[in-house]
Amino acid sequence: MMKATARAHSNIAFIKYWGKQNEELRIPLNGSISVNLSNQHTTTTVEFSSSLERDTFSLNGKDEDIKRISIFLDRVRKLSHIDIKARIVSENNFPTAGGLASSASGFAALSLAASTAAGLKLSEKELTILARLGSGSACRSVPHGFVEWKKGNSNETSYAVSLYPETYWDIHMIALIVSAKKKEIPSTLGQQKAVQNPFLQTRIERMNSKIQHIKSSLFKKNIHTFGEIMESETIEMHAIAMTSTPPILYWNSSTVAIMEKVWSLRRKGTPVYFTIDAGPHVYLLVEKKNSLTVEHEFKQMNEVKKIIINSPSKGTYLFDAHLF
Ligand code: DP6
Repeated sequence: MMKATARAHSNIAFIKYWGKQNEELRIPLNGSISVNLSNQHTTTTVEFSSSLERDTFSLNGKDEDIKRISIFLDRVRKLSHIDIKARIVSENNFPTAGGLASSASGFAALSLAASTAAGLKLSEKELTILARLGSGSACRSVPHGFVEWKKGNSNETSYAVSLYPETYWDIHMIALIVSAKKKEIPSTLGQQKAVQNPFLQTRIERMNSKIQHIKSSLFKKNIHTFGEIMESETIEMHAIAMTSTPPILYWNSSTVAIMEKVWSLRRKGTPVYFTIDAGPHVYLLVEKKNSLTVEHEFKQMNEVKKIIINSPSKGTYLFDAHLF
């Protein structure tokens, strides 16, 4: 039977991927570092069958656009020398429409499910490369725990590795979901604009040293230096978006209210830091021992519509129960 199911967790980047050296192969201009999120995952079943007339894809019970997925499946078909169509059924356990980036867990789960269903046995490195071709950040959802994506300069040299397992550091990444009124600019488009931004050059020049610094504070598990770098990095990525032409502002007033609250809590002595992807939602970094207190503080804000508490998680794995 050419059928397999995989589960992948979403990841949040401490050092962001923002700008590509190669659009088609999704090779980034800089390396990035992330952690997998325990309570945000995608489960995907893929079946290849000669009785299917076309590829189909449903997410949380709803038929979705197949274009980007079919292009991805063509790569799997080419690798495995098969020429038949696939049915794909996916479930996210976290909000998708709200704009919480789901492509990372989506393409990581699809990579393992589709390659397994097609009879391929890829190594972890090969799987990160395949996932990267679907969506860049997806390669970081394949290995366990804390992950580095080495930028490389070719298809074979741009891949992700685990730096530490999920048990390494007792932190929580708390997702604060705010309401998003306008439709977000997809990250692929935002990144295309970034490449034309003259400020991006300066960011890229300083990147190696930034990555060394954050890796050394991760090694020391120093929440203060780690958090400071993570936070200034997120502001820098958003500064690139804001100074692109036309400007892209992912934040809304709720985002800013949360940022100010984080700074105010820090002034009062609580070590809490934020990071933000291509949308208005905010992730907080806290040590587990401070998690409940911090959660309580943000629960009280009108701006916060939903809270998801995440621990560091393992990467992508095969799953027993098929979705169809
Ligand atoms: C802001 O991985 O969604 O989340 O490769 O074009 O699919 P594509 O981009 P994508 O970009 C993610 C951007 C980010 C930062 C990050 O996750 O590193």
